[in-house]
Amino acid sequence: MGTLLAARALGMNSLGLDIAPEAEICSRAKVAQVTRSEVMRYLERLPAHPAKDIKLRRDVGALLHPHTVRSLIPMRSRLLADMAKESEPGCASVVLAALLGILHGHASFSLSVPSAHAFAMAPSYVRKYAEKNGLTRPIRDIRACLRAKIERCIPETPGPRVESKIIRGSATDILTHFASYIGKVDVILTSPPYLSAQTYYKDNWLRHWLLDVENTVSQGEYLQTASVTKYSTLVETILDKCSKLLRPEGRLICIAGDVRAAARSSRPFSIINTTAIPPLGVQGTPGSIWLLTLYLAITYQDCWGRQI
Ligand SMILES: C[S@@+](CC[C@H](N)C(=O)[O-])C[C@H]1O[C@@H](n2cnc3c(N)ncnc32)[C@H](O)[C@@H]1O
Repeated sequence: MGTLLAARALGMNSLGLDIAPEAEICSRAKVAQVTRSEVMRYLERLPAHPAKDIKLRRDVGALLHPHTVRSLIPMRSRLLADMAKESEPGCASVVLAALLGILHGHASFSLSVPSAHAFAMAPSYVRKYAEKNGLTRPIRDIRACLRAKIERCIPETPGPRVESKIIRGSATDILTHFASYIGKVDVILTSPPYLSAQTYYKDNWLRHWLLDVENTVSQGEYLQTASVTKYSTLVETILDKCSKLLRPEGRLICIAGDVRAAARSSRPFSIINTTAIPPLGVQGTPGSIWLLTLYLAITYQDCWGRQI
């Protein structure tokens, strides 16, 4: 949800909606009104001693050392509890987002066996790869790693204070989530999953473990399908709902993937019937704008910033 950060830098209010719990937390961090010093002070108060009596899971153990797992559990419990108490995104959201950012990767502050940063690979693959290449799961000082990450990502002084509403939910329910904004949104910016090209749910299994949401997140809610019919029907429905949020001269901007229907197909294709969406007009005035970042899906050829 980088869009919320950009909106804040411009002093614009924003709404964010994504089905992924990790996206919700990272977005909260991006609009948090806290200084880096406040976050660092909060970090020092977090439990850092490894918990005993923790049943270690084999899949998690493929990427993380048992010591790391034992240290993470009490820390994440405190972070989740504190985040639930925050009336607006604050230190707990920032530290939890930072923790998600260092959970796996190959930086000096990453907690896992050296691996991809963007997504967590399957445990069996990681185990075999680590064995073959002599890679080991590091034992790290998690607090020191978090300090390094926060130092890099959080400015000492936060950006302008804006109003932001961030929701974890499906784009199909957008009108329910944002009912009070119907007819009021100036810009909708979407950066959707591409047809049959992304596996956000599967790729985030370790982050879902950390956030303790494995039982509440369902793959079926993600927009992920190889069926052109299903995809276009869903997207058209969502876009139609989105159009109801826009004010009369609002604008919808979509970042779209250049995806081919089949390996033998040489040309990208348009699968969204944009004539179903009412025509939109000119941009609103920065400052008064409610920017809605919505991660729904659209896949056709040439529409980076295209007005529909
Ligand atoms: C290309 S990414 C967009 C990332 C975002 N623009 C950013 O700046 O980080 C697509 C996003 O769509 C989300 N997504 C997938 N299915 C969804 C659904 N049914 N409703 C809302 N968001 C969904 C994924 O979780 C993913 O974060």
